[in-house]
Amino acid sequence: MTSGGSFYITTPIYYPSDVPHIGHGYTTVAVDALARWHRQAGDDTWMLTGTDEHGQKMMRAAAANGVSPQEWVDKLVANEWFPLLETLNVANDDFIRTTQERHEESVKAFIQAIYDRGYIYAGEYEALYCVGCEEFKPESEIVQGTGPFEGLKVCAIHSKPLELLHEKNYFFKLSEFADDLLELYRTRPDFIQPESARNEVVAFVQQGLKDLSISRSAFDWGIPVPWDDSHVIYVWVDALLNYATAIGYGSDEENFARRWPGYHVVGKDILRFHAVIWPAMLMAAGVEVPRGVFAHGWLLVGGEKMSKSKATGIAPATLVDTFGSDAYRFYFSSAIAFGQDGSFSWEDMAARYQAELANGFGNLASRSIAMTQKYFGGAAPQPGDYTDADLAIQELVAEAATSADAAVERFRMDQAIDEIWKVVDALNGYITESEPWVLAKDETQRDRLATVLYTCLEGLRALAVLLSPVMPDATGKLWGALGASALGELGAQPIREAGTWGVLPVGAETEKLQPLFPRVDAE
Ligand code: MSP
Repeated sequence: MTSGGSFYITTPIYYPSDVPHIGHGYTTVAVDALARWHRQAGDDTWMLTGTDEHGQKMMRAAAANGVSPQEWVDKLVANEWFPLLETLNVANDDFIRTTQERHEESVKAFIQAIYDRGYIYAGEYEALYCVGCEEFKPESEIVQGTGPFEGLKVCAIHSKPLELLHEKNYFFKLSEFADDLLELYRTRPDFIQPESARNEVVAFVQQGLKDLSISRSAFDWGIPVPWDDSHVIYVWVDALLNYATAIGYGSDEENFARRWPGYHVVGKDILRFHAVIWPAMLMAAGVEVPRGVFAHGWLLVGGEKMSKSKATGIAPATLVDTFGSDAYRFYFSSAIAFGQDGSFSWEDMAARYQAELANGFGNLASRSIAMTQKYFGGAAPQPGDYTDADLAIQELVAEAATSADAAVERFRMDQAIDEIWKVVDALNGYITESEPWVLAKDETQRDRLATVLYTCLEGLRALAVLLSPVMPDATGKLWGALGASALGELGAQPIREAGTWGVLPVGAETEKLQPLFPRVDAE
């Protein structure tokens, strides 16, 4: 891909009704790593995350804690959701809260626009609502309760009883967009990724769409409907609009034109909102649809989706305190195929930390730098003639950089890391085979020793660049220890050119490197 184009990417905005768990961290880190890659490639990158603060779920959480909804969200956002970004070392460009004026005003403008265009009407509604999902549930997602909820209809995701609501609502004419949506999925096959997610949405829309209730009148914690303030806008419609309001829809058209359309990365639980309702809302307003929607899988605990409401939530800080933020980011970016479900286990994380980070990457860095210090006084040596073994490393580095970039284009950071890791493994094997400690004993092999160590250092230079979106801290330390700062900041190195050989200057002064991934007490 050529650099310089706009790359706008978003996480879902999270419900701050409760504290974050590693499921939320999973999406946020994935989006951050993708954004960092594109930013480092020179694309005009913008990463947005935020919180979804209206709706009944929030009202109830606040009431249960004896405070107003605004007090509740202010507290949770300040004490839990902002700090999460620091814990995970996330470089978001903006954070939107749906209670901010910049959002509320533009949401009203958008709703008024689709009302004026004739896509909203008033009607009566009676249906089963899940407060956990903030959604009227279709038949297919309603199941019979068990245990304390025996005899009741419950939500298939939350396993909690549904509530029968009967209200006067405003409706959005979603049903009118089924054909246009199918046409969109047909003409842009990668609009929804991965393929399995796309197929599911296509099958859903092919059955026809019902109009969508987009207002609620039984409570007032939301954005008022502009022409009828006895209603508030349905929380999902309000929330989806964050992607547009945050970049200037209704307030800064120039910036909006610069950023939009963008990519949305979401958990598969909320795919339909993003791939059906959201593009239909945009079509109704005459605004371009997103560039794409990527649905990832769930982190499972005991075979079920991890969730706070089922008391299976693990706090990200628990893992970061033990393993560090880089290892957290690496583990979740690499251990699960992006798009599929994956089970988290502490043992698996500890094992990968030791094998891949400490013994694999960390050890490669430590010993390459230590040998440069021992045999060449610390300065990157001038390589002599390259042998086939050296050239094979150079080719692999070039290939890894190209394939990793292609994988990132497909939103597959896990595959990008697999490609990059081939270099880590190959360099470790190369050191074993080249036996620099044996070469060092023979003065006639001085040139060969220099070539081997330069190959290791230059390979590490490429690895530092390629892995910096996933592990910014460790690669930053490595960058300094390689004496690569003369090339400029690590974050300024063009990632799509990371595979070009011979960038680390001969004579670069290496510095002693503390272990990048120290031994942890993972018990
Ligand atoms: N507020 C809505 C989203 C509105 S977007 C316009 C919402 N919020 S949420 O707090 O429930 O977070 C949902 C997102 O968190 C999921 O889509 C997913 O990205 C992430 N995850 C929450 N639990 C998860 C797992 N167990 N596994 C993986 N991701 C999970 O829905």
